[in-house]
Amino acid sequence: MFKDLVVRKPIDQLMKEAANTRELKRVLGPLNLTTLGIGAIIGAGIFVLTGQAAAQYAGPAIVFSFIFSGFGAAMAALCYAEFASTVPISGSAYTYAYATLGELFAWIIGWDLMLEYLFGASTVAVGWSGYVVSFLEDFGIIVPSYLSSAPLTQDPVLGWQTTGAFLNLPAMFIVAVMTVLLVIGIKESAVFNNIIVLVKISVLILFITFGIAYIKTGNWVPFIPPNTGEFGHFGLSGILRGAGVIFFAYFGFDAVSTAAQEARNPKKDMPIGIISSLAISTVLYIAVSLVLTGLVKYDQLLVPDPIAVAVNAAGPGLFWLRPLVKIGAIAGLSSVVLVLLLSQPRIFYTMAKDGLLPKRFASIHPRFKTPYVTTILTGIIAMFVAGLFPIEILGALVSIGTLLAFAIVSASVIVLRRTQPDLPRPFKTPFVPWVPIFGMLFSFTQMIALPVDTWLRLLIWMAIGLVIYFSYGRKHSKVQNM
Ligand code: ALA
Repeated sequence: MFKDLVVRKPIDQLMKEAANTRELKRVLGPLNLTTLGIGAIIGAGIFVLTGQAAAQYAGPAIVFSFIFSGFGAAMAALCYAEFASTVPISGSAYTYAYATLGELFAWIIGWDLMLEYLFGASTVAVGWSGYVVSFLEDFGIIVPSYLSSAPLTQDPVLGWQTTGAFLNLPAMFIVAVMTVLLVIGIKESAVFNNIIVLVKISVLILFITFGIAYIKTGNWVPFIPPNTGEFGHFGLSGILRGAGVIFFAYFGFDAVSTAAQEARNPKKDMPIGIISSLAISTVLYIAVSLVLTGLVKYDQLLVPDPIAVAVNAAGPGLFWLRPLVKIGAIAGLSSVVLVLLLSQPRIFYTMAKDGLLPKRFASIHPRFKTPYVTTILTGIIAMFVAGLFPIEILGALVSIGTLLAFAIVSASVIVLRRTQPDLPRPFKTPFVPWVPIFGMLFSFTQMIALPVDTWLRLLIWMAIGLVIYFSYGRKHSKVQNM
């Protein structure tokens, strides 16, 4: 009985299956894979959360939070890179777990990844809605808040409450648009993604290069504001809490690995895509946070659009940058929604191929060659999640889900090195077992810092997943029935 649950999928079988599928088009090269990664990484984290974390927890020392968090992300990314080059299959972490820890773990991680990709897309769509509403306001177009905010919220004392709002319509709108684009095609989506990645990177570079001249070094004093006496409010513990919040900014590099079957040369290009997208984003984040806190005193950054506020604070010399910053943020958040919505269906697709989800989920559109059934299903669920819930609740759930996936992938690297030491690994994680151990420790520490409610939601989510696995997946699993 227990043995069934840990039945593994042999790697050579995985590779044979992937080689035999000609269903998805192999069109992505190293550059497209890198922009795909940047497309998923740079978003609500830098454009929204940085200001909040600086104002509430770390002050200018948010730069250290970025360095610390970036280190943790790099550990996980190096582990993903080994797997993505060794087992380049669109199921990403789900597939890696299937090959190393067995079917039950694979299911758990596949189900968990929905929190990262599907709920992640909804979270960022809510952030997008905030920026669009504020951008339209600059032109005198007012979107009433009952049409652009969540109808549900959770009060720490009273529990779930209705807010009187109808639905967050702009958030639903962006999910719908991206879903249509994804059904039409991966190549088309990649071109669109490249354009927006270019826009958002250019805006951040403009902000850094032109912002430097307006920095008032007084804003950096004290660079590490003294702790207020409460854990996590400034001082060293504030840097740590800040790191926990802005870690969200690094999520997304793993999305590259879900496009493995659409990459021309995945063994070589997967690690390039994962590592270079993370490296480019990290450098930009550190520079942006330094300029941001130099332009404006950190206590004024608790706003939905901190970068725009910093540009304002610089004075008339930088006013021209204000609309560009908003356009950059809107574009940036759109591409995050796009790439997260692209990743989820590819995981469903792989799970369906393995028999753990209904066969219908693996249908490919005859003309567009995309996994359209799962893309539409993902789009519809993500749309309603985005329309109904507030960003804080979604964000915490996405963080816990993603961190769990990072931890399992890191552990899997060590397991696979032991169980199949001779497997050809085009890219090897350096300093094993230390890098994966740090990856795990880092993820668990960040998970522990999240609220109890979030843990409860994770457990409920996992319980639902297990019911589905035992009532459907296990009986239909191809590996079980071989
Ligand atoms: N890293 C992505 C963002 O910051 C999820 O929006």
